[in-house]
Amino acid sequence: MSEARKILVTSALPYANGSIHLGHMLEYIQTDMWVRFQKMRGNQCIYVCADDAHGSAIMLRAEKEGITPEQLIDNVHAEHSADFADFMVDFDNFYTTHSEENRELSEQIYQRLQAAGHIATRSVTQYFDPEKGMFLADRFIKGTCPKCATPDQYGDNCEKCGATYHPTELKDPRSAISGATPVLKDSEHYFFKLPNFQSMLKEWTRSGALQESVANKLAEWLDSGLQEWDISRDAPYFGFEIPGAPGKYFYVWLDAPIGYMASFKNLCARRPDLDFDAFWNKDSTAELYHFIGKDIINFHALFWPAMLEGADYRKPTGVNVHGYLTVNGAKMSKSRGTFIKARTYLDHLNPEYLRYYYAAKLGRGVEDLDLNLEDFIQKVNSDLVGKVVNIASRCAGFIHKGNAGMLVADMPNPALWGHFVEATPSIAKAYEARDFARAMREIMALADAANAWIAEQAPWAMSKIEGQQAQVQAVCSQAINLFKQLVILLKPVLPKLAADAEQFLNVPSLTWDDLGTALGDHQLNPFIPLLTRVDPKHVEALIESSKEDLLEMENTNSVEEIICNGELEKEPLAKEIDFNAFAAVDLRIALIEKAAFVEGADKLLQLTLDLGGVKRNVFSGIKSAYPDPKALEGRLTLYVANLAARKMKFGVSEGMVLAAGPGGEEIHLLSPDSGARPGQRVM
Ligand code: MSP
Ligand code: ZN
Repeated sequence: MSEARKILVTSALPYANGSIHLGHMLEYIQTDMWVRFQKMRGNQCIYVCADDAHGSAIMLRAEKEGITPEQLIDNVHAEHSADFADFMVDFDNFYTTHSEENRELSEQIYQRLQAAGHIATRSVTQYFDPEKGMFLADRFIKGTCPKCATPDQYGDNCEKCGATYHPTELKDPRSAISGATPVLKDSEHYFFKLPNFQSMLKEWTRSGALQESVANKLAEWLDSGLQEWDISRDAPYFGFEIPGAPGKYFYVWLDAPIGYMASFKNLCARRPDLDFDAFWNKDSTAELYHFIGKDIINFHALFWPAMLEGADYRKPTGVNVHGYLTVNGAKMSKSRGTFIKARTYLDHLNPEYLRYYYAAKLGRGVEDLDLNLEDFIQKVNSDLVGKVVNIASRCAGFIHKGNAGMLVADMPNPALWGHFVEATPSIAKAYEARDFARAMREIMALADAANAWIAEQAPWAMSKIEGQQAQVQAVCSQAINLFKQLVILLKPVLPKLAADAEQFLNVPSLTWDDLGTALGDHQLNPFIPLLTRVDPKHVEALIESSKEDLLEMENTNSVEEIICNGELEKEPLAKEIDFNAFAAVDLRIALIEKAAFVEGADKLLQLTLDLGGVKRNVFSGIKSAYPDPKALEGRLTLYVANLAARKMKFGVSEGMVLAAGPGGEEIHLLSPDSGARPGQRVM
């Protein structure tokens, strides 16, 4: 046996201001499968993560919700932890970047960089919101594009003509936070001198630490020359104050990757077998891998290795980049119900279905991965239920009935057993290389071979023939052993199925080494159903619920969503429309005649609206703000009358009522001034 490897693994730290969705889960599930594989192989593999808790988005969101940033990040930490646990993402530590360990390490790294001459300071002129009293990041400034004159564009690029520019070039700039006209103001900023690391990075990016396509992309940036990186932000900011620079804070992306170290350090304090220095010192022989999405490559493959090098720490062994998740061939869409939160999925479907589907489609490249829901149902049912679980469920009964659940040691088809054993190194190699799709293909090919042999032996037919009982027991015993092999091979992907199978097989927790031995003369426990087929109805219900999530989101102020929600931050405001387009929306005054709970819906109220004689039925995601729907009855509100009807599980929703606020308990239904009458047009 070769010596056990020491491996530290991370997934990118999710922002602490939004829910985990299935796109995020692609990363956490993938990392978890790789870590579980390493642990099964007997390596010391440690998986750490944390919430990314700093930055102005979190500060602003907390402010909107009327709570402190600390309260916000605590709430989100609890939510994220539960989501990960329920998807069986088994972190050794899930911490937060807002920790003492992270503060100390961030200060130490910064001070080392400074002592080594890698920090510069200079004055920067930036837009400042005089009402809010804060400097504005580019995405918090809106104005008219200097190139094509389209209004309402963000501070750094135009959605209409694609121009990129400096925020000071925008015409009619204003703060997206307060609406105030920003003023230019000078402030001293701190910079990390990235160009000092040009030659180190050229070498490191070609050292095998990166996928080739990623290294090629970086080579373009490296060849065009690196810029100094602005690592400071002025108060007010939620983060760590820079030592020796009162009122200046580390930019969130400086302390975020240090959060990997801090989470590990926090773990070391309660795990005496772990030594922080042995993993992070310059001469460390431990391996260090970061799993990330393609949108954050520069932070992990340029800034981070340079920071580590400059502060005298080791660099990553590998940065493993994956592509983006699409659903049914398109970007996740709220209106199609394909923007699916982790929790909404869990409310309807078994997490192992998704773990398997991701595994079956994940190669080592950076291409996007499509969750096609038809294919998802088909693949899980045919592979997991039809091929794998089926072997055990077909054969266990004969052993229980014919031999009191006792396996026999006979191996009627030693060649097939040999084939299974010989196939395993290639599957291990595929896992090691993160080529999960190849591992799944090879495992399913083995399952096919097992099923073909069992079908040919047909124990169900043999069992009816006198004198064939010994052969039935031998075939079924070997089949159970082949099933055991498949369970071991799939265990990194399907930990719950494996645990249930171990219970049925009456064996302790299986490891990779157990592939070498067959169970002979061994007592089984009663068979327990391991996995049921995906019911397409549950997938439909998931889509419906995701639309419900949307209705809830529709009732929140879109500008605030854009500022405050990590995901939406990247989504631009809607394109400018002309007056005719606006006039095409038929807005009316509506009287809420009836308001009631909807059975089976967590977030909806059913409203019966009166538009001055005409009645309308609307499902609205405002229940969390109006726990007593009766209180709404008799009140006037604003209503979009010509919105296409939407078919939902509970009935057809016709149009929508208008409300403002961040969501949750804080949703404010709009009302007209007194005197307005039901049915009146709103302009
Ligand atoms: N907080 C930063 C990471 C800091 S790491 C020191 C961040 N957070 S995030 O919540 O936006 O994303 C977390 C991870 O999920 C990133 O690796 C990101 O690429 C990944 N994904 C987010 N949306 C995704 C998809 N739709 N598809 C696949 N991965 C996605 O970035
Ligand atoms: Zn433009």
